[in-house]
Amino acid sequence: MDENQKGDKKRTALVTGASAGIGRELALEFAKHGFDLVLVARRKERLEALAQEIIGKFGVNAHVVVADLADPAAPRRLFDEMAARHIPIDALVNNAGYTVSGYFRDTKWDDQKALIQVMVTAVAELCHLFGPGMAARGYGRIINVASLAGHLPGAAGGTLYAASKAFVIKMSESLSLEYQGHNVHVTALCPGFTYSEFHDVAGNREEVSKMPKALWTDADVVAREAYRAVMEGRPVIINGRLNNFLAWLARILPQVPVRKLMARNQRNAKAKTNGR
Ligand SMILES: NC(=O)c1ccc[n+]([C@@H]2O[C@H](COP(=O)([O-])OP(=O)(O)OC[C@H]3O[C@@H](n4cnc5c(N)ncnc54)[C@H](OP(=O)(O)O)[C@@H]3O)[C@@H](O)[C@H]2O)c1
Repeated sequence: MDENQKGDKKRTALVTGASAGIGRELALEFAKHGFDLVLVARRKERLEALAQEIIGKFGVNAHVVVADLADPAAPRRLFDEMAARHIPIDALVNNAGYTVSGYFRDTKWDDQKALIQVMVTAVAELCHLFGPGMAARGYGRIINVASLAGHLPGAAGGTLYAASKAFVIKMSESLSLEYQGHNVHVTALCPGFTYSEFHDVAGNREEVSKMPKALWTDADVVAREAYRAVMEGRPVIINGRLNNFLAWLARILPQVPVRKLMARNQRNAKAKTNGR
């Protein structure tokens, strides 16, 4: 029998940000492998449509939970709701995310605070809440969606995005070691540019669509590779050869020229966008 299924009772995967993009594809990928799903995001209709698609296509259960992860109470509420409904979570996918565009000094603190809540605090808290139960039951799979940006030096603008992703990578590496021997695998998923709604939400679709096609990956490919990586117990996965090469360059090159390169690219980007 598939180690990811447990006899007559199915395993369950909870995916945050399942209403679009990479999260939607990750939910479909887990369903394809026989997992029941808990789909979490703010847009209820999207989640309900996906739940119907999952039930129809794969014959597994799919539950919808509407939650805004910018609310500090949301992770605990999610955990308590799963406990009350007797749904043990065997796989956790911390995927919900976005960026706050523009220079740090020009943005509202409330927007930056919400980003930290969604992309740092909620990610850590959900791992803290669900991880121990997984270890106690002797099975767990956690995917924390980070980014190639977490491997590169910081750039001006979108300031806390790369910082939050670097946090997620380091935290996942640590948890992956902590849970060794408990059959709980923790993977930081680091996609590069991926086709999704991310850049529409960020408001920079036109600018990024000028990036070379070779840098882009489809969300279903990212999801498939992520599933395989977490099942194999890989602590970090970067999608795509070119993205792996870029992360490797950033790691091995002396930091001074790498930072200069980032600054030059930024000047080019600013020139293209009339200074912003
Ligand atoms: N696309 C890329 O190029 C790229 C590259 C590297 C990493 N990533 C990462 O991949 C992850 C998924 O992004 P994506 O590209 O799939 O973007 P997307 O298509 O815009 O999807 C983002 C998802 O996050 C959810 N979300 C956003 N804010 C939320 C909140 N406050 N509470 C609950 N859910 C929230 C959205 O759902 P609702 O709006 O319905 O709440 C949506 O389902 C993110 O962590 C992102 O940083 C993306």
